[in-house]
Amino acid sequence: MALTFALRNGDAAEIDAPLLGVLLQSGTELPGQLRTLDERLGGALSRALQRGDFRGAKDETLHFDGGESDAERVLLIGLGTPAADAPAASLRRGAALLARQGHRMGAGSLAAVAPGIDEDSIESIAVGLAMGAWEYIDLKTPPPEAERKKPLTRAIIVANDSKAAKDALSRGEAIAAGYEVSRRLAQMPGNLCTPDHLAKTATDIGRRHKLKVTVLGRREMERQKMGSFLCVAQGTDQDPKLVTMEYRKGKRSAAPIVLVGKGLCFDTGGISIKPADRMELMKFDMCGAAGVLGAMEAIARLKLKVNVVGMFGATTNMPSGTAVKPGDVVISHLGKSIEIINTDAEGRLVLADVLSYARRFKPAAVIDAATLTGACVIALGHVATGVLGSDQGLIDEVLTAAKRAAEPGWQLPLWDDYKDLIKSDVADIKNTGGRAGGTITAAMFLKEFAEEYPWVHLDIAGTAYSETDLVAIPRGPTGVPTGTFVEFVRGRAG
Ligand code: BES
Ligand code: MN
Ligand code: ZN
Repeated sequence: MALTFALRNGDAAEIDAPLLGVLLQSGTELPGQLRTLDERLGGALSRALQRGDFRGAKDETLHFDGGESDAERVLLIGLGTPAADAPAASLRRGAALLARQGHRMGAGSLAAVAPGIDEDSIESIAVGLAMGAWEYIDLKTPPPEAERKKPLTRAIIVANDSKAAKDALSRGEAIAAGYEVSRRLAQMPGNLCTPDHLAKTATDIGRRHKLKVTVLGRREMERQKMGSFLCVAQGTDQDPKLVTMEYRKGKRSAAPIVLVGKGLCFDTGGISIKPADRMELMKFDMCGAAGVLGAMEAIARLKLKVNVVGMFGATTNMPSGTAVKPGDVVISHLGKSIEIINTDAEGRLVLADVLSYARRFKPAAVIDAATLTGACVIALGHVATGVLGSDQGLIDEVLTAAKRAAEPGWQLPLWDDYKDLIKSDVADIKNTGGRAGGTITAAMFLKEFAEEYPWVHLDIAGTAYSETDLVAIPRGPTGVPTGTFVEFVRGRAG
């Protein structure tokens, strides 16, 4: 159930919520806002701070019974020392931690206080709370009534409800709604989140926000001679989809930003089949597409004055009697011939044709996001998204947006020296370059199809989902790259 938000002005001691979360930076003294609350708790808060039981370190928590105060429980949450260039990230993390705790204890509703709160903080707290409260329970039988915990449905942010604060809250809600779309799609199993379902989600978003949505299926893509995309889809009867969503709220003449996502609803590897161990995680191979859909939802809700085209290629990579084989050569939409060395390097084949198709929009910039290479997980772990591109100015802009969104990225080189690795004996290019520099050779491959506009590629293989529970969010989809897309577009909006 989605979280509903309200702003309430007042003293922390008067907030009658089952759970009151207090977000505190490293080394803060008891803020004036909490003095009455502290008195009602018999000085418990100030004593805990004085003794150093709670120091406000990142992810630190300390729980109090609400005693005589209006809140049933009080939870102090540490923010650490926020990064100067990305202050929102720590608030968001703290708020997510609060919502997660509230959700676990079955609080039903909660309130959040942060000393020195400004409008940007309200936005970040709202996003964080929604992130922490999120879950995907559609496919579980609910536990018997007696064992059921109250779901977290309401959150109050303690702040002056001025017009600016209300606007900030709606911005937070818009971004949260975007994350909700992408995480839900990502967590859905491959038999439910099909290319058809992704296309339907796009048309649904389009209908709600009046976007022009175009869906190409196998026949249309055959007409467009998309031999690269189609060779991945030829192993399945499911109709592949190339989806385009046009949001035009900028100047008529302004070239659009194009966001592109890899939408592999499941990646078995195809004939070059993957090992069984943890193969189920390959339902997440559509997180790039999910990020595009979530970003389009958020951008439309934010009513940003900008032109954006969201695109994704959706299919499933299956071994079958009709599947593409190693050694096969296909002709891409752009006309370049591609030798298939490994059918598991399918994402780049899909993206090649989507990136060439994007030329028709005469983009100001193209950013693609893809769970593209296992090598990226080895290089950067689960912390940073791999960022590569053809235009340093655009790369810097994307890195800044990623940081603002608390989805940090790290640049890898994309030098021509790597091009030799994807030379083919029989075709213009081959689809893999061996184990060395796997993330870079994958991006080098994409670059061949993205030469007509400034372009950046995000390898989100390590960051789009987590196999382990994280502090602020449970294991599963993280929502990456939704926030990066939104922040980038917001940075360009007039
Ligand atoms: N979807 C995978 C990449 C991936 C791996 C994402 C692990 C998340 C976690 C991609 O399609 C793939 O299989 N890439 C291959 C490329 C190789 C065959 C050159 C890989 O990384 O092993
Ligand atoms: Mn693959
Ligand atoms: Zn894949």
